[in-house]
Amino acid sequence: MTLMTAPGRATEATSPVALLGPEPAGVRATLPGGGAVTLRPLRHGETEPLQSIFDGMSFEARVQRYLAGMPRLPDAMLTALAEVDGVQHAAWLAIVAERPVGVARYVVVEPGVAELAFEVVDAHRGTGIGTLLLDAVTTVAAAHSVRRVRAALLPDNGPSRALVTKVGVRLFPARSILEGEGPLRLLDPPRIDRRAVLALAASNTSWLNPSRVVG
Ligand SMILES: CC(C)(COP(=O)(O)OP(=O)(O)OC[C@H]1O[C@@H](n2cnc3c(N)ncnc32)[C@H](O)[C@@H]1OP(=O)(O)O)[C@@H](O)C(=O)NCCC(=O)NCCS
Repeated sequence: MTLMTAPGRATEATSPVALLGPEPAGVRATLPGGGAVTLRPLRHGETEPLQSIFDGMSFEARVQRYLAGMPRLPDAMLTALAEVDGVQHAAWLAIVAERPVGVARYVVVEPGVAELAFEVVDAHRGTGIGTLLLDAVTTVAAAHSVRRVRAALLPDNGPSRALVTKVGVRLFPARSILEGEGPLRLLDPPRIDRRAVLALAASNTSWLNPSRVVG
């Protein structure tokens, strides 16, 4: 199992709340329609926003995300999704009006290669949040020497297909899904303040090298 798809067997979810202190700093971004979003890294063990985002997704959207029916987010999966270290596995949240509305992540699956996954709650879909989140995680991934990106999605997932293709994934049919890989290409033009994103990422990870992605 990777963090990208559902585990074979679901267990009861109890949605533990991570008590991690005050809300951390974020990077402000503006949506094409003018709305304001704050982007910030998920903290290690921070399960509450992940559960909240999952709760804001329809059954169909969960199938698109996990490639399987997910009436609940199993405890083990929720824990694994929050096992971020900012290097091999990083996730960034989108916050609107103090509520988490989306998350995107990369997981390094082999040296220099990362798998991408992302989701936005139904109420905020189609406003550009997925694009901002993808820009943030690919920016951070590039700064951590990720050179190729992978994704797997259902063939009818138009928005996801559009997004991953823009960052370099070349999709091919594989059984009942589309999957593929390609050289990471950052969005052009940038949709976020990449220097600010890298500075915030680096505040947790001092080895980050912003010069790799911000010219
Ligand atoms: C995929 C997802 C995260 C996109 O988030 P979003 O905030 O709605 O995305 P955006 O608003 O930034 O739009 C992304 C792109 O999809 C395009 N798009 C929207 N609907 C589309 C469709 N039916 N067909 C093709 N492209 C479509 C948008 O036009 C936009 O491209 P553009 O910037 O060139 O116009 C969101 O739809 C979602 O959560 N889906 C369920 C979970 C999922 O599928 N996750 C991905 C698999 S890991």
